[in-house]
Amino acid sequence: MITKEIEERIRSLRNKYPKMKTAILPAFHILYQEEGYLSQEGMQKVSELLGIPLLELNEVLSFYVFFPAGKVGKYWIRVCDNLSCSLMGAESIIKYLEEKLKIKVGQTTPDELFTLSTEECLGSCGTAPMMMVNGEFHENLTKEKIDKLIEELSRK
Ligand code: FES
Repeated sequence: MITKEIEERIRSLRNKYPKMKTAILPAFHILYQEEGYLSQEGMQKVSELLGIPLLELNEVLSFYVFFPAGKVGKYWIRVCDNLSCSLMGAESIIKYLEEKLKIKVGQTTPDELFTLSTEECLGSCGTAPMMMVNGEFHENLTKEKIDKLIEELSRK
């Protein structure tokens, strides 16, 4: 839900940026911080407050994969399945995570703790296979490292 406070934070961007298009990403950050993802309700509000067509905002959103367009769990696990990571075993890492979390790629655990997805190259090919959890890299993955991480995150 877009609160008055969120609206005000987004509206205040109008004074900081001379061109409204340069306020798009700061507005997305506000939505992400407040809601954990970029809902269509939030996007509509940004459109109204900044005077930018919703279609244009959705085009920007589709480019920046770091902003989830749908609700995700507390921990958003994104496993790179691009070339280097695939060569280093990304498929077995993904399969292992699916079994461990009892969900498929694109799903969230029933307790809304974990969402699992795959990504294109995240720019850390030298430490493949790797994944990102809420923006933090986890590299040179092994099943043991995943076990440890999931256990730690489950306790937080
Ligand atoms: S291929 Fe996985 S980080 Fe580049």
